[in-house]
Amino acid sequence: MIKKISVAQLRTGMFVHDLHCGWLKHPFLKNKIKIDSSAMIEKIIEIGIKDLYIDTDRGKDIVDHPPENPVLEDAVPEQVVKPVPETKDLVSVREELERAEHVKHEAARTVVEVMDDIRLGRQIEVEKVDHVVENMVDSILRNKNALISLGRIKKADEYTFMHSVSVGALMIAFGRHMGFDYELLKKIGIGGLLHDIGKVNIPAALLAKDSRLTDKEFVKIKEHVMYSRDILAKSNGVDNISFQLAVQHHERLDGSGYPAGLTGQDIGLHGQMAAIVDCYDAMTTQRCYQRQFHSTETLKKLFEWNNAYNRELVEQFIKCIGIYPVGSLVRTEGGLLGIVISHNENNLMRPVLRLIYDSRKREYIMAKDIDLSEESVHIAKFMIAGYEDPEQWNLELKRFF
Ligand SMILES: [Fe+2]
Repeated sequence: MIKKISVAQLRTGMFVHDLHCGWLKHPFLKNKIKIDSSAMIEKIIEIGIKDLYIDTDRGKDIVDHPPENPVLEDAVPEQVVKPVPETKDLVSVREELERAEHVKHEAARTVVEVMDDIRLGRQIEVEKVDHVVENMVDSILRNKNALISLGRIKKADEYTFMHSVSVGALMIAFGRHMGFDYELLKKIGIGGLLHDIGKVNIPAALLAKDSRLTDKEFVKIKEHVMYSRDILAKSNGVDNISFQLAVQHHERLDGSGYPAGLTGQDIGLHGQMAAIVDCYDAMTTQRCYQRQFHSTETLKKLFEWNNAYNRELVEQFIKCIGIYPVGSLVRTEGGLLGIVISHNENNLMRPVLRLIYDSRKREYIMAKDIDLSEESVHIAKFMIAGYEDPEQWNLELKRFF
């Protein structure tokens, strides 16, 4: 079990799951370490860490170790407020990308395995899901944009499980933005990863249908929420927050959603967040029967549909992912193509671009970063004219991060 403790409670024999600070700020090789000596504890105190996370399955628990050093206890009083993870990225997208790629594949494989288990009448192996979501949370705490931008890339035949991975990642990033603690991030990540698990009981041909659904087919598709509810209710170890999030992700504030037609605050906070995230990911993904909406127009629609989606939460979601999400390919007024490599919280319309290609000459240019929020670049030719499809230009964006 992961527990947050104050540094004063740290004892030899404990296993530190997360030092709760950036890698560059501490002298250890990893963020996860076994405390073998009091010298290690002193080092941790020296670098100014006030609290951290321990894993009681891999080391001693605080319950077994009453305070031995009253001086330390007085020096660092235990926090009474809920822990808030860092909202600043700890590493660059580039540094995180390879690990995030691994986490994405691990998460996708887990969703497929969970679906196979259910088809075979087995229970969900919650520990397996728990482990992969922990890796997702860790990746997003290091840099949220790496996993999110990878989650945007989906092939047509992998929609069902990649949508689950993407919703899981976006939920964790959204939760981090909202200041949720580590355990809550895990719960909403698990809810996100498993929210559509009931689709396992919907005929594959119907899920893959490449034309508009009939009313009857739509009724059938809607049943996936009830199936998710039944599957998750039977699975030991799925937390109520993860469960509610999955059951409520199609409810809408005005009562137009399903399965219960709940209204307003009868839909929990996590269910309201999941509704936004689920709709965003579905709309921004190319599917046979639906054109792909760009992120900007999707966010605008979510904002306008304020009878269905909580406007304050939509605003927070926009602040979290940016109007032009990191990893998007855009064209400037001057005809250059650039990747959004970060956004400016104070001016979401003007992100930082890495210009890589001249669309008029159809040739690569020497990569150059440009911060559109800086006064000096407020010239028309660098302003964003629209989104571009990387496949159309045969550009593999990952290599330009
Ligand atoms: Fe769904």
